[in-house]
Amino acid sequence: MASALPAQHRTLLLEDRKDGFHVKTCPTPQPGLGNVIVRVHAAGVLSYHREVYNGGRDYPFPTPLVGGYGAIGRVAAVGPDATALKPGQLVWIDCVIHGRDDPDALFLTAIHEGYTEGSKKLIRDVWRDGTFAEYAKLPLENCIALDETRLCGSLGYSIQDLAYTCCLLVPYGGLRDINLEPGETIVVCPATGGFGGAGVLVAIAMGARVIAMGRNEKELARLKEHVLKGSPNASIETVKMTGDEMKDAATLKGFGTIDAVLDFTPPQASKSAHVRSAVWALRRGGRVSLMGFNDNPVTPIVTGRNITLKGKLMYERPDMVQFVKMLERGLFPRGKDLVDTKAFQLEDWKECLDVGAEHTGIGRHVVFTP
Ligand SMILES: NC(=O)c1ccc[n+]([C@@H]2O[C@H](COP(=O)([O-])OP(=O)(O)OC[C@H]3O[C@@H](n4cnc5c(N)ncnc54)[C@H](OP(=O)(O)O)[C@@H]3O)[C@@H](O)[C@H]2O)c1
Repeated sequence: MASALPAQHRTLLLEDRKDGFHVKTCPTPQPGLGNVIVRVHAAGVLSYHREVYNGGRDYPFPTPLVGGYGAIGRVAAVGPDATALKPGQLVWIDCVIHGRDDPDALFLTAIHEGYTEGSKKLIRDVWRDGTFAEYAKLPLENCIALDETRLCGSLGYSIQDLAYTCCLLVPYGGLRDINLEPGETIVVCPATGGFGGAGVLVAIAMGARVIAMGRNEKELARLKEHVLKGSPNASIETVKMTGDEMKDAATLKGFGTIDAVLDFTPPQASKSAHVRSAVWALRRGGRVSLMGFNDNPVTPIVTGRNITLKGKLMYERPDMVQFVKMLERGLFPRGKDLVDTKAFQLEDWKECLDVGAEHTGIGRHVVFTP
């Protein structure tokens, strides 16, 4: 479809990890077969984005590239094979790209090139640049349409509230993957980080009882208060990690039957005993979604008790579609009290990535508003 895209747009470009980003004016991407051009309104920032781009986390990706991750934007132009997306449409932008002729050739655009020859070829040759820019080019299927009238009109979501979807969708992928049911009890650990906190909110929205584990009592108290502010009838408990595997398992068992565990353990917590405690506390036949990246062996506790351990990277397209239905029913938080977003211009990228590393935990998010 013909578009009125500007000839050029501003991007946050990483030419070399040693030099960091530069705001650079580049030719605006153009629509073509299979793609959509989106005007980015709010682009999510990860707690570890700074380390991804300075080499502190050794994530492989080609350079130069425009940084990024999930985002909220508005369709600016579509390719000739678009059948549902239209210019002007508000969309959620997914950063997980799948090869069309091999969905297992997947990677996180602008973050990690994935593990197959196909994924490395795709990020290098086609879908390299992310959402830290005024405009982004995405595969058609990576833009999930949002009902703006419902969300921003009757429900009162701001664009930045909607960008918190970048956090919420990730645990939803893991929770759907282990078939969390309403009424079940799930341990989320650690729960005080960005994705852990989002996992608590999503599990509550799915009708579960949540036991949130963390090492920081003050943050656990904030978490509980935050959940009850948004959902006064939510079943939410907190457990402080003591470092004693069996003691913490016994504390968890004190809450009765535990059906599932959601793990978001980062690498720096690999030695922490919390996942093992949670797995000890699981009922026979319980399920665990492992979403953290770490080196924390739990297999010995799993085998004898028919525990299902499932690794999960992000989510699948049906998860996104189902998530948006929940969003449009008003099941997720909105408003400044519940979604505390700090927004930055591209020029302020250094401060943005620093704040991104600190401003984490339930209901907190950092975005670029290019
Ligand atoms: N599978 C996927 O698709 C996927 C997607 C996104 C992210 N991830 C992974 O999820 C993990 C968490 O990311 P995030 O952005 O939520 O991180 P984050 O906001 O920095 O949170 C880190 C969490 O780990 C806790 N922690 C840190 N060191 C610890 C230790 N020594 N012992 C116990 N707990 C400790 C923190 O507790 P305090 O509050 O006490 O500091 C906090 O709860 C990362 O490994 C990331 O790679 C996976």
